[in-house]
Amino acid sequence: MIGRTNGRPVSITGLGCHVPDRVVTNDDLSKIVETSDEWIVERTGIKERRIARDDEALTDIALPACRRALEMAGVDPASIDLVVVATVTPDMSFPSAAALIADELGMPDAAAYDLSAGCTGFVYAIAQAHAMLSAGLARRALVVGGDVLSKILDWDDRSTLVLFGDGAGAVVLEEVEDGGFLGFELGADGGGGANLWLPGSGSRHFDEPEKYVKMNGREVFKFATRVLVSSAEAILEECDLTIDDVDVYVPHQANVRIIDHAVRKLQVPEEKTVVNVERYGNTSSGSIPLALADAADDGRLEPGKLVLLTGMGAGLTWGSALIRWTHETTGATA
Ligand SMILES: CC(C)(COP(=O)(O)OP(=O)(O)OC[C@H]1O[C@@H](n2cnc3c(N)ncnc32)[C@H](O)[C@@H]1OP(=O)(O)O)[C@@H](O)C(=O)NCCC(=O)NCCS
Repeated sequence: MIGRTNGRPVSITGLGCHVPDRVVTNDDLSKIVETSDEWIVERTGIKERRIARDDEALTDIALPACRRALEMAGVDPASIDLVVVATVTPDMSFPSAAALIADELGMPDAAAYDLSAGCTGFVYAIAQAHAMLSAGLARRALVVGGDVLSKILDWDDRSTLVLFGDGAGAVVLEEVEDGGFLGFELGADGGGGANLWLPGSGSRHFDEPEKYVKMNGREVFKFATRVLVSSAEAILEECDLTIDDVDVYVPHQANVRIIDHAVRKLQVPEEKTVVNVERYGNTSSGSIPLALADAADDGRLEPGKLVLLTGMGAGLTWGSALIRWTHETTGATA
């Protein structure tokens, strides 16, 4: 799916993020599995990640991010009429994390549901919320991207354990005078789905149900380096813009090598690229909003800036969004 927005302008008016307190370093992981700080840094650029406590679930991590985003936007939670949560690790299958969040924050008039698109979930979710607002179906949306992948990782499998972390981000979307979202490109290839999957997690019967994430790292690497570039190029062309017009590039924070490849191919100057994977690892649906929050706190998301977001992940899925930033958004970290 690719399209240029053509309805009422909609933008991000509030932004918040939150991560668990517990920091787990590469050296900590080397006491659990056969690995080393050197291997992890060289192959991924990751130095540490945040890991939820046993009693911490997705909504515990997402709620502080939501409160921060609502506060920044200066909106009454009761006025939110749409909540979309992108996650593959909701507190439980149902009720949805979105319904729990809407209840906790006092949003009685909100439609609320979860959306599953792997690490691309946040980009899918902002596209959906944008469409609802732009079409006049909703007036004010809270969109959350977050995951607690530590709960579905095999803690004996070094090939996946070292890559991921926990975290969440939230944005408020509202109609604006001008600017905001310019276009979206979203895609999926279920044929490649078994390269990054959780096969025993649904209604399909398997003789030996697999409880944890399984990944073919090399295939995912090839896929990631391809789609980060193709999706960004497609949405720029769709919107009659070029990479030179982009002020801030926010790629999915999976791995520094994947980001470096995209930066080289797209020819985005390094100083325009947001990278924080060394501190958080890959936080799945939380990755792009966490990176946006870092960019906001560094003063890089000023009104008028053109921001390119590109995600990719399980599904396999990918997606890009182009936004003409409209609001002051410092102090996003809750
Ligand atoms: C996972 C990834 C870092 C592995 O890097 P790689 O260079 O492809 O490494 P390989 O898989 O070829 O493994 C090389 C060796 O390191 C070993 N290895 C794997 N994980 C290791 C770890 N954590 N520590 C030490 N050694 C490890 C392998 O067993 C292999 O050993 P062998 O040669 O004796 O068999 C890389 O494939 C990758 O980044 N893939 C994309 C993953 C991703 O981003 N997923 C999420 C997408 S949303």
